Amino acid sequence: MKTVSAVTDLRRERQTLSGTLGLVPTMGALHEGHLSLVRRAKAENDHVGVSIFVNPAQFNPNEDLSKYPHSLERDLQLLDNEGVHLVWTPTPDIVYPPGYQTYISVEEVARPLEGERRPGHFRGVATVVAKLFNAFTPHRAYFGQKDAQQVVVVKRMAADLNFPLEIVVCPTVREPDGLAMSSRNVYLNPQERQTAAVLYRALCAAKHAYDSGERRGDSLRAIMASAIAVEPLAQIDYVSAADPDTLAELQTVERGALLSLAVRIGNTRLIDNFLLTETPNSKLQTPNLRFGL
Ligand code: PAF
Repeated sequence: MKTVSAVTDLRRERQTLSGTLGLVPTMGALHEGHLSLVRRAKAENDHVGVSIFVNPAQFNPNEDLSKYPHSLERDLQLLDNEGVHLVWTPTPDIVYPPGYQTYISVEEVARPLEGERRPGHFRGVATVVAKLFNAFTPHRAYFGQKDAQQVVVVKRMAADLNFPLEIVVCPTVREPDGLAMSSRNVYLNPQERQTAAVLYRALCAAKHAYDSGERRGDSLRAIMASAIAVEPLAQIDYVSAADPDTLAELQTVERGALLSLAVRIGNTRLIDNFLLTETPNSKLQTPNLRFGL
């Protein structure tokens, strides 16, 4: 496995990789969710590239960038064990050198939900992902369904800017109690960690109602909200039942929906979602539980 920082080194190493390249963009602090993307990329491509970069441009001033977990040595060992070929670990100065002033702003789909609560977040995501696509020139790029709006924004950006690659979306990997794997889960103390499974329970309750025929957006949102309200440590940021493509809130679910929510547990903000398909009582792209529930 080659690990490089400078763009020139990345380009040189990239040129030595013939055949298809799958890219897994990450911010490090790797967990099974990331590794599932790496394994999928490995299965579908001749080579796998991974970026590890905590992107300052996607954190707004109220978010503590400096506290984001780092575990570079461990991450590199995990990637080596998975048979990754090329890892890019640039510093902020390499990605955004002095004088840098070009940003990508995806419009409508970046506005609601996370976009509303985290101003500038998707501008930072779209910009760094475009730079990663240019730097690695991958044939496929792998993202987790856990960051559902990020997937919509990245797909829009890649289509609008004619990036010649396929965006592959992989199922959310969950802990045994349903909590979606996230690098931020390490911030939770034991009591908060127990509470955190409420996000999954709320989504399951709304999916159960949907499978039983509930199609009113307000009811699905209310079901999620009341499931969370029973947990004193959990504070709702938003609950949403939105169109999966436009992310506009739905009055009535007619052709599937993205159920999503953001909840604060103590000082940690967690997000999760289920994508409901249009088929009644369908088995949805939902829990990919490693240990089954
Ligand atoms: O999902 C993430 O970890 C980040 O948003 C990404 C895609 C690596 C861009 O910094």
